Amino acid sequence: MARVLSGIQPSGIMTIGNYLGALQPFVQRHATDECVFMIADLHALTVPQHPDVVRARTIDAVAMAVACGIDASRAIVFVQSHVMEHALLSWILTTMTTMGELERMTQYKDKGQGQVSVGTGLFVYPVLQAADILLYDTDIVPVGDDQRQHIELTRDIAKRCNQKYGDMFVVPQGQYVDRGTRIMSLVDGRRKMSKSDASEGAYIGLLDTPDVVRRKIGRATTDSGKDIVVDWEHKPEVSNLIELFAACTGQMSAHIVAQYEGVGYGAFKRDLAEAIVACVQPIQQTYARIRESGMVQQWMDDGAQRARSIARQTVRRVTERIGLVPGDGHLGV
Ligand code: AMP
Ligand code: TRP
Repeated sequence: MARVLSGIQPSGIMTIGNYLGALQPFVQRHATDECVFMIADLHALTVPQHPDVVRARTIDAVAMAVACGIDASRAIVFVQSHVMEHALLSWILTTMTTMGELERMTQYKDKGQGQVSVGTGLFVYPVLQAADILLYDTDIVPVGDDQRQHIELTRDIAKRCNQKYGDMFVVPQGQYVDRGTRIMSLVDGRRKMSKSDASEGAYIGLLDTPDVVRRKIGRATTDSGKDIVVDWEHKPEVSNLIELFAACTGQMSAHIVAQYEGVGYGAFKRDLAEAIVACVQPIQQTYARIRESGMVQQWMDDGAQRARSIARQTVRRVTERIGLVPGDGHLGV
């Protein structure tokens, strides 16, 4: 059985991009693998946040992960800050990482762009992510392909540590969803659909009502043509809508293209909106039930306990190898 780990930042209501690109592929691994899913609240602190917002969004994210199909009794679902070993290992790994490696990370460059000053948290963010992954002897990390650089860095750090200290970490593999499930913005087909987009019309939130979905799809950017074809270079927005349709319905995009040949954007968009509504409605119903059930705290506590028992073993191994002295209360062992 492989150990599979993924995580998401609690930075707002998840989008259909998060679902199709990250959560759905993760859920599909439940039957065969040991799954660990983390709400990365420490990562969310790397940009300015209001405390009440962080708190609320963390709980929302746990509930939403379960609503999307992650089974909290089989998978380990937990909140990153509940397992303090993440912060400890992250520090240790910063001592194994160079400035140059972190300076090359595009996320830091993108998020820091135009800011007067950039927090060091944003700079060392990928090291914390490496700790998240290496703490659990993770074999596979299913993520969207925007995370590829972070996974590569994690692998480099793991190999370097293994070389210096003997086998210390499992070297993880990234598992990237293919292009079809990289959902792009509804207003700009060259940008990723993101919940942090300033324009709400750019994304479909998993809690958007049917009317909101219909309105957003109705207003989604297309182009002055009328052909419904996949052509990322010339028609990125239309291509994206086709891929979104395919991903929501589990069909091949070629099938959608054949089906909508010559019908025009209007009818295509109407059917797409209904396909999205059918995809998100069951998630919304489960989400509402979860919020009423009051189970979230228990899932978080149980998940943290299970995660901690794995993380502690790794930290014990690492600290011993690198020469930290065990002491009273040290690592809670
Ligand atoms: P984020 O919302 O950026 O914290 O991303 C959480 C997870 O969802 C990561 O694995 C991302 O790669 C994935 N993801 C986010 N947005 C999209 C998107 N538009 N299409 C596909 N995957 C996405
Ligand atoms: N950086 C990831 C994102 O923004 C979230 C994340 C944090 C993560 N820790 C992780 C993903 C560990 C996979 C594994 O999407």
